[in-house]
Amino acid sequence: MKKIFLTAAGMAAIIAIATVACQSPAVEPAVAEATAAPEDPVKRGEYLVNTIGCDDCHTPKKMGPQGPELDLENRFGGHLSTHPIGPIDTSVLSKGWALFGPELTVAVGPWGITYAANISGDSTGLGNWTEEQFFRAMREGKYKGLATSRPLLPPMPWRNFAKLKDEDLRAMFLYLKSTKPVNNVVPAARQL
Ligand code: HEC
Repeated sequence: MKKIFLTAAGMAAIIAIATVACQSPAVEPAVAEATAAPEDPVKRGEYLVNTIGCDDCHTPKKMGPQGPELDLENRFGGHLSTHPIGPIDTSVLSKGWALFGPELTVAVGPWGITYAANISGDSTGLGNWTEEQFFRAMREGKYKGLATSRPLLPPMPWRNFAKLKDEDLRAMFLYLKSTKPVNNVVPAARQL
């Protein structure tokens, strides 16, 4: 019995030491962060937008030697209305498949056909949006960020973005608004 008690006490001591040991390195970055100059929100937004990968769907692509490359002239312009799509083979839908256009800016599935939106700084993009609209689009999946509008359809992964912190969403919005305006009215989503 005594031996068991000692073992338990010994373990408690080890856990206590381990806890202190694990905590101390974590303290340093927190202190460093608190003393660092606050990050420019536009720079933070650029970092987030670039790493989360909004370009994948919202920037048109050009075919290069290594495969599709971002069309930086039209960055964040969404599906370009000047790029017509070919005939859609809807027979694949009943076989359990969905389709993506070659620039990954247009998708077809059981939800119909959707075109990636213009999220550049232009008035045909997010240029005239309020922060409230952006939050509603990203958190509640509302088209144009309006309370009464239709839900945003796949493949826009807004449910993931809904979990971003307020300050991160705000930073992303400020960055997107500051991007080169791409004048492009994206075709409307529709049922097939
Ligand atoms: C996998 C593809 C995909 C990715 C990645 C993606 N989006 Fe989208 N997004 C879409 C599509 C498609 C639509 C249009 C959906 C519709 O019309 O219902 C859309 C719509 C939007 C809208 C609503 C625009 C409007 O006019 O209502 C906003 C805002 C938006 N996306 C922002 C972003 C941001 C910011 C990112 C990166 C953090 C991002 N999206 C990443 C596909 C994507």
